[in-house]
Amino acid sequence: MAQPKKDVPATDAHPERLIAGASYWSTYELSAEDHDGEAVAPLRMSDGTYGLRKQEASCDCLGIGESVPATCFPPACLSACSFDPQLLYLMGQALGEECLHESVDLLLGPAINVKRHPLCGRNFEYFSEDPLLSGKLGSAYVAGVQSTGVGACVKHFVGNSQETDRMTSDSVIDDRALHEIYLRGFEQLVCSAEDQHRTHDFGEAARRKGESNTAAHSAKTAVQQGYSPDGFFCGQPAAIMTAYNRLNGIYCSQNKQLLQFARNTWGYRGIFVSDWGAMSQSIPSVAAGLDLCMPGPRLDHSATVAKAVKDGLLPDSSLTGCEERLTNLMVHAQQVRAHRAQTSALPYCEADHLALAQVIAEQSAVLLKNEVPTGGSVAALPLGKDQRLAVIGAFAKHSRYQGSGSARVNPVQLDAAWEALQEVSDVQGCQLTYAAGYDPNTGETTPTLMDEALRCAQAADTVVVFLGLPACYESEGVDRQSMELPADMNALMDVVCAASKPVVAVLYGGSVVELPWRDSVSSILLMYLPGCQGGHACVNLLTGVVNPSGHLAESWPAKVQDTALGVNYPVHTPQVFYTESVFVGYRYYTSVSVKPAYPFGYGLSYTTFTLTEPVVTVQDSGAVYAQCCVTNVGNCEGAEVVQVYVHVKDASVPRAAQELAGFAKVHLKPGESSQVPIELDAHVFGYWDTKASKWRVDSGVYEIGIGVSSEDISLCEELSLMAGQRLGCLVVQAPTLVSSAERCVLGPYFTVKPQGFTQSAFRALYGKGFPVLPPTRPFTPDSSVRDIKVTPLGRLIAREIHKHGMAQGATHIPGMQSMMEAMLDSMPLRNLATGGGSYSLVIAIVDALNGKPVKALGDLLSHPDALIHELEEIPALEEGKL
Ligand code: BGC
Repeated sequence: MAQPKKDVPATDAHPERLIAGASYWSTYELSAEDHDGEAVAPLRMSDGTYGLRKQEASCDCLGIGESVPATCFPPACLSACSFDPQLLYLMGQALGEECLHESVDLLLGPAINVKRHPLCGRNFEYFSEDPLLSGKLGSAYVAGVQSTGVGACVKHFVGNSQETDRMTSDSVIDDRALHEIYLRGFEQLVCSAEDQHRTHDFGEAARRKGESNTAAHSAKTAVQQGYSPDGFFCGQPAAIMTAYNRLNGIYCSQNKQLLQFARNTWGYRGIFVSDWGAMSQSIPSVAAGLDLCMPGPRLDHSATVAKAVKDGLLPDSSLTGCEERLTNLMVHAQQVRAHRAQTSALPYCEADHLALAQVIAEQSAVLLKNEVPTGGSVAALPLGKDQRLAVIGAFAKHSRYQGSGSARVNPVQLDAAWEALQEVSDVQGCQLTYAAGYDPNTGETTPTLMDEALRCAQAADTVVVFLGLPACYESEGVDRQSMELPADMNALMDVVCAASKPVVAVLYGGSVVELPWRDSVSSILLMYLPGCQGGHACVNLLTGVVNPSGHLAESWPAKVQDTALGVNYPVHTPQVFYTESVFVGYRYYTSVSVKPAYPFGYGLSYTTFTLTEPVVTVQDSGAVYAQCCVTNVGNCEGAEVVQVYVHVKDASVPRAAQELAGFAKVHLKPGESSQVPIELDAHVFGYWDTKASKWRVDSGVYEIGIGVSSEDISLCEELSLMAGQRLGCLVVQAPTLVSSAERCVLGPYFTVKPQGFTQSAFRALYGKGFPVLPPTRPFTPDSSVRDIKVTPLGRLIAREIHKHGMAQGATHIPGMQSMMEAMLDSMPLRNLATGGGSYSLVIAIVDALNGKPVKALGDLLSHPDALIHELEEIPALEEGKL
């Protein structure tokens, strides 16, 4: 019989206890009595998205406490630029193996939220502004994790696009944007079982990169020994994490329309687990389909739900459904553990995982610029041999390699570009000098540091400047306020450029920054956050050992004012109106005259490719392919990311000028050519029909553009679609006639202007009244710490919460202090009950704040949990939400 885990209390569990966590990271055990005479051990969960963050002793969802050492792979901001699902599959598989070793059953990743704006504090953890790319990479990652038997939990479902007030804010998204942009990635993950099986053919990726493939080996061994994890997961993610925010007025964890849509329309069979502290009310959440409330213990949750079922307020089936899904997953995890227990060997080779982390960084870094310096004859990169190299910037020695927050990994090992450069200089005969230039924690400089940097630059043949966002500039829990680099770094760059030497900038950070000096430097290599082997990856790219092949997975606007939302982000009001609708990222830039500094899909190489011979075909099965011939016409080996965009002529609804429908990465030797067929996503031809509530493809003429970025589409073919024709899983229909009145209402979206979109235009597009949020008074468990500060008692309580919260915060972690302050301020009172707090206390505080001290005292004395409180509220719940 499986033993309960160390941090989980042994319990006399009743099945309904399963629906809330027993601890920060685990469910309860299922007792033998409740499970046909055989106990099932608790399900153990751990973050994160680019490395395992398993906590043994301390527990938190902020990345504060220690976690076991693990491989820190490049975060999604970088790995997405690989445009290579096979690499993401290998990374997922490696993560799964580390979970197996640490007895983690469910990994809380990947995070596939669409990047809505460059300032979102969590962009470093998200893949892209494009749902197709996010979905394809997310699918591959999930398939990789789950090939080891470990479950993957995709997050955050859905509309969690800003960190500001993320626990209470309401994302108001129109139906088309919701389905075409924000849900589409999740839909692909749930519905693309077939795709995932194709991704399983990862042997080619491994061979191509010439690594030893322990990951592949161990998965094969598992299958040979009669254990097939795929059979259990059926190509769907084991879990989906519901986001903190509200979606169109209702918290995601209790948004029945949302959760039931995934169950009924997509056929989702896994579990829905709340983000840590995202559940607002027990009964509506279970009624909506939430299976597991995390973290625990939350005895009030299971007790409330059990009583509601007993009293007939909730159907029996809503509870039994949760129990069944959770039990199945726990039994599966138990089988995986039993299988794993047959061998004590490490299920992977640590060196292989580090090598994979490096390969991913190398295959993903983006060469943004590479020009011949004034007076020179070749481009500044790759770096020439036998020269004097000035290395400027503290990031060369103190790597900026990952983000802050719940994804934060304790790396088994961490390299730095400076060490790696020294190894290379021995071989290539370069003389290296170094100047820190700034403080790596703050980005601030001093006159002395500036002077050193200038002297260092003057004495060199080429200057390599390492710079970017210090860790304290970006984190989960807070959004950036500006797109600027630290002013001192820009000043340092000006000083270095004044030395009139070729300057190569190596750029770090989890998201887009303004680059005021980009015209003054010869080359820019964008490393984003490259993980624990980023130093070696960077040097291999700088020296040409590896040819850069990453392409931007997000647009890189020149300044924040150029974005569709301009400076109106983040929003501090309770409702966040997604006024740009479907015009997110490059969908906006390709539709207006404002061009980004570097467009979506852009990336240079040390070689040159040509694209010729475009062909577009629709097969009888409905599968649609675009094909072209790619030739490496340069003189070194390299890889190109071929992208296919759809442009709809005479669309009956507002459409972006370009929409990514497929992509492929092709590796070619000098002089080599390859015919590259790319299967296109039929949904990109279509749109969400808001009246019929389903996808629809109109007959008509579509332009299929093939190119190497959203702004560089060199080949174009027309495809005519006829009504009745099959396209993927959709059937083409005659277009609906749009009345001139409708066109007029949607005018600002038919003709997109650079000023962005007004709230009144959005109201017309939204089509129904905006959701109405509950008033801020009387206070409720959803009131935030900031909300309650309007009363003297509230200020007192808020002060105590801050004092207590800050005492737990690890201020030694860069950025943590401001993140903690912001998170505590926006925290709803209900979250005082997470991780072992008492919900009765929450209710008592709310009653006291509402001027009911006697009731508050009663809450504390007579209610062991919130049972009675929530049941009292039932009549007030809107009909239809249960
Ligand atoms: C984050 C999740 C994370 C969870 C557990 C939350 O704050 O939003 O992504 O998985 O904490 O650490």
